[in-house]
Amino acid sequence: MPPRPILLDCDPGHDDAVAMLLAWGSPAIDLVGVTTVAGNQTLEKVTANALALARVAGIAGVPFAKGADCPLVGPQLIPAEIHGESGLDGPRLPGPGADLDPRHAVDLIADTVRGHASGEVTLVATGALTNLALFARTHPDLVGRVAGVTLMGGAHHGGNMTPAAEFNILADPEAAAIVFDASWPVTMVGLDVTHKVLATPERMEQIARVGTDVAGFVAELVDFFGQAYKAERRYPGPPMHDPLAVAAVADPSVLATVAAPVRVETRGEYTRGMTVVDLRRTWDVAGGEPSILGVADDYENMSMHRVGVDVDVDGFWHMLIDALTRIGNTHFR
Ligand code: BDR
Ligand code: CA
Repeated sequence: MPPRPILLDCDPGHDDAVAMLLAWGSPAIDLVGVTTVAGNQTLEKVTANALALARVAGIAGVPFAKGADCPLVGPQLIPAEIHGESGLDGPRLPGPGADLDPRHAVDLIADTVRGHASGEVTLVATGALTNLALFARTHPDLVGRVAGVTLMGGAHHGGNMTPAAEFNILADPEAAAIVFDASWPVTMVGLDVTHKVLATPERMEQIARVGTDVAGFVAELVDFFGQAYKAERRYPGPPMHDPLAVAAVADPSVLATVAAPVRVETRGEYTRGMTVVDLRRTWDVAGGEPSILGVADDYENMSMHRVGVDVDVDGFWHMLIDALTRIGNTHFR
């Protein structure tokens, strides 16, 4: 299989950083562009972080462009308690390893999709969905050329920022609604599955055995990122949310999915930013018989998306370790 071309739209962010390393190191992925969006920190900070990561990973020949600096509606939410003041607190970052492309992220996405055969490029989104929504609205003619959108966001049960909403969706619910309502196929990699891939001390021992400067950088990221999860949730390690979205494109067998309609709640008093996944008329999460409930007519014209329900945890870690091994030492410091 030739590597799949992906454009990574991200807001680095500790787990976005690991996602970028996975995308660059995986032989199953051809990283054809990186775009940034305001999210884990301001647009300026996450863009500076993305360019520093280019140096960490030794990424060359890949355009980096910055996009939206705020959500479509309302103020930006900044989770500094999770990712710190820089958005990537913990490791000492090197200077930029790439020049910023002069194009806006939306233009880079459009040029990338246009420059590949129809159905070739997958958009992987690991931040708020503002750039992708703007792309879908300004280039409706190109939406059908996108192979699919694989996004880290949402959940079919619960949230992390509120009882109902996950951060990337809550950060721009209107944009998320546009992305889920567009005609491209979406694969949703939500909290239900990302909370199954925790960077536990045992997994970090495996990463340490890679023995490179880049693997050491990942350990420093995880140390910082894990603090909030340990203090607030008693998790033994932080979830590898964003890398799982990349992994699901590199090897779709890593993620078990079901087909289901997904709607984004934009108005609820307590549920704004919730991904409402109707699992009634599809296969039960546990597998087995299709449900007898839910034959709602209003779904007739809705896209059915793929919703992650389970993970091959060992397969994920094997893929990440392989990617880091292939990147090797980059001598970035
Ligand atoms: C998501 O929110 C961000 O803080 C992480 O980078 C991830 O994309 C998890 O809810
Ligand atoms: Ca992210």
